[in-house]
Amino acid sequence: MRVALVTGGTAGIGAATAEALLAADYRVAVNYGGNQPAAEAFTARTGIAAFAWNVADAAACTAGVAEVEAALGPIEVLVNNAGITRDVMLHKMSAQQWREVIDVNLGGCFNMCRAVIEGMRERRFGRVINMSSVNGLSGQAGQTNYAASKAGLIGFTKSLALEGASRNITANVIAPGYTDTAMVSAVRPEVMEQILKTVPVGRLASPAEIARAVVFLAADDAGFITGITLSINGGKYLD
Ligand code: CAA
Repeated sequence: MRVALVTGGTAGIGAATAEALLAADYRVAVNYGGNQPAAEAFTARTGIAAFAWNVADAAACTAGVAEVEAALGPIEVLVNNAGITRDVMLHKMSAQQWREVIDVNLGGCFNMCRAVIEGMRERRFGRVINMSSVNGLSGQAGQTNYAASKAGLIGFTKSLALEGASRNITANVIAPGYTDTAMVSAVRPEVMEQILKTVPVGRLASPAEIARAVVFLAADDAGFITGITLSINGGKYLD
């Protein structure tokens, strides 16, 4: 059984991903940032162990990976899903709102990949799946910070794909569209109504509709799929 770790894995797309990997016979652990009651409820419901640390903190990632590996074994599938928004137009954005988003969404990916990559290279197997966003491809007013972080993940992933290719390590991006999660619920209803009009499929994605693509990319026989960005956005942005 392969071992998978999903960051930001106790809610939303991360939780659906962890459950889908469990159903596909992976040994799964999730990381979460700080909402302990939600994590305990998730573990009680699914049986999946949840580990708390901040992905923006490099030392915490190293320690967290060591803890997960001691419990489950070497991490073979890493899903960098943890992400935050601080939506505000650039002319009102603080340096802190910029930094927080870059540090979690993009810095977190670096920190987590850095913590697992040497082991993956030694074992000559790895699957890294990074959660970007349609808005990293299309841009979105109010999200210069978030879109920059999500676009940054794409360049990061393509480079890691090239580095890992000779070691049977793939790195891919999933770019979800607007999905039925707490992050999207936080958008004002009248703003969301306008956004939904731009989605040809006419609804939000369910987290499970994103998770199924993670399982696809994580598979042993997905070794020839590397460096891609897989859009799952209901037709909102076709690149
Ligand atoms: N394009 C261009 N301009 C826009 C715009 C748009 N889509 N939306 C708003 N504006 C302009 C308005 O016209 C207005 O301009 P004026 O000042 O010249 O009149 C100005 O921006 C301010 O608009 P608001 O009244 O909405 O300003 P606000 O400060 O109350 O809110 C906001 C700004 C928080 C960014 C709000 O517009 C918003 O929430 N937008 C949606 C952002 C979004 O889609 N976030 C996605 C979150 S989910 C996610 O990120 C998951 C994922 O990956 C998809």
